[in-house]
Amino acid sequence: MAWEHQPVLLCVLMVYVTSLVVGAEQRQDDDECADLNNTTWQEYRQQRAKLQVQYLLLTRANVDCARAFDQESLTDAQKPSYFNASRPTKVIIHGYRALGSKPSWVKELARALLGAQDVNVVVVDWVYGASFAYNLVVENYKEVAVQISVLINQLQTHGCRLESFHFIGVSLGAHVAGFVGTLFEGKIGRITALDPAGPMFKGADTFDRLDPSDAQFVDAIHTDSDYFGISIPVGHVDFFLNGGKDQTGCARSRFASILVYFPVYGYVICDHMRALHVYMSALNGSCPLVGIPCSSYEDFLKGRCVDCDVFKGACPRIGLSENSGIAISPIPKEQKLFLLTSSSPPFCAHHILLEMEVSPLDKSAEVEVTLRTENLGKEQRLRLQTDTTVYRTVMAYSVALCEIYSIELKNTGARFYRQGDVHVKSVCLSELPSLRREEPLCVNNINIRRGAPWSHDFVQVCGLF
Ligand SMILES: *[C@@H]1O[C@H](CO)[C@@H](O)[C@H](O)[C@H]1NC(C)=O
Ligand SMILES: *[C@@H]1O[C@H](CO)[C@@H](O)[C@H](O)[C@H]1NC(C)=O
Ligand SMILES: *[C@@H]1O[C@H](CO)[C@@H](O)[C@H](O)[C@H]1NC(C)=O
Ligand SMILES: *[C@@H]1O[C@H](CO)[C@@H](O)[C@H](O)[C@H]1NC(C)=O
Repeated sequence: MAWEHQPVLLCVLMVYVTSLVVGAEQRQDDDECADLNNTTWQEYRQQRAKLQVQYLLLTRANVDCARAFDQESLTDAQKPSYFNASRPTKVIIHGYRALGSKPSWVKELARALLGAQDVNVVVVDWVYGASFAYNLVVENYKEVAVQISVLINQLQTHGCRLESFHFIGVSLGAHVAGFVGTLFEGKIGRITALDPAGPMFKGADTFDRLDPSDAQFVDAIHTDSDYFGISIPVGHVDFFLNGGKDQTGCARSRFASILVYFPVYGYVICDHMRALHVYMSALNGSCPLVGIPCSSYEDFLKGRCVDCDVFKGACPRIGLSENSGIAISPIPKEQKLFLLTSSSPPFCAHHILLEMEVSPLDKSAEVEVTLRTENLGKEQRLRLQTDTTVYRTVMAYSVALCEIYSIELKNTGARFYRQGDVHVKSVCLSELPSLRREEPLCVNNINIRRGAPWSHDFVQVCGLF
């Protein structure tokens, strides 16, 4: 009997031995691995006068072991640096930080960037400036930017070109990046702002906040523009996710806005951090996150913006593609883009446009539309008014249009309104952004009566396009 287990035992033993060896190697490395500073209240009080900005370097050669990084490490032959001036450089700047916290996303973001491109990743650690009261932190952000600009100047003398720098700023970090951009007169290659901070910046002059003149290309993702984020466009393109305010899967917590002034800031900031998580997901490249240009979220939801013809090509996409994929020149500025997302990684959703035209009604009514796929059904209620005959609405769907196999209509308003039959001239489904070659799925001339749901099966069309 026992022999049956021997291979397993051997295997376990080998894994154990291997892990000992690997473990020893890692421990050796760990001694040299740098980390974000984790300051305590006492240290903070002692150090406050000085910002003590620290830089960490991560590359594909040291993905898991950050090196402390400064101009000396570039020239010191005893301390070989992994920095390679002929590669582009990504600079990550965090925002407000709670005392005693080390944001775990920094390493995740660095890893995602290195997975996507062979670059130098420099992490700016300004915890001494970024902790405690928000208004004091705001006072520090320009000083941090000045210090970063000194480092950039030194890197230029080592052969780095300004265009090869890409700053990725989270929250307040976006405005730090913006001010570095101001100091270099907009010659930096790119700034990506992940829910750029709103409080104390919204009404600020463009000199004091991030704006499109700060880099050759500025892209921003907005996810909490009613609390911690800024509600106005600050880049060439500004992606407003689910309207930019409230994110799917995040609990509403109104009290969170009070907490920003206290060290307990913590993790009640689901909406605010969503921009970062969506960006990391986009770097993973599992599915496209594209935005559709529109002047307002309302117009977008009402299906008034359906394509990206203004860009004469593909829709702008979240991630690292050059100029977010925009090929026209000059690049538009402060272009608002809208998209719906799902509540968990990889966050992509299909945008399904539902269009319904009814014959004029005598009384108001309500129609429930259900779209079904093999595994799920999704309902959408439409309130029909006597003065409108055409209804359009955009919804997020987890599968593509071609996977929707039936549509069901129910006249549900019977108890509250007294419209009897609703005559539907046509009901159509299409997927946004609309491509000319795709015909919408339509059904015409239907009568839906109270208490008698109507449904129609579509012929499966997946794979035809
Ligand atoms: C920050 O942490 C590094 C180690 O990662 C340490 O060398 C450095 O002295 C710390 N800086 C401050 C200001 O505490
Ligand atoms: C620096 O990067 C360039 C471009 O990727 C590469 O050709 C070169 O070998 C790298 N140098 C070192 C020392 O790794
Ligand atoms: C930060 O440091 C404090 C005190 O040294 C410690 O209690 C806390 O666990 C540390 N936090 C992290 C995230 O390392
Ligand atoms: C990216 O992909 C890796 C592996 O495919 C996965 O472990 C990681 O969680 C993903 N990260 C995000 C943010 O989606």
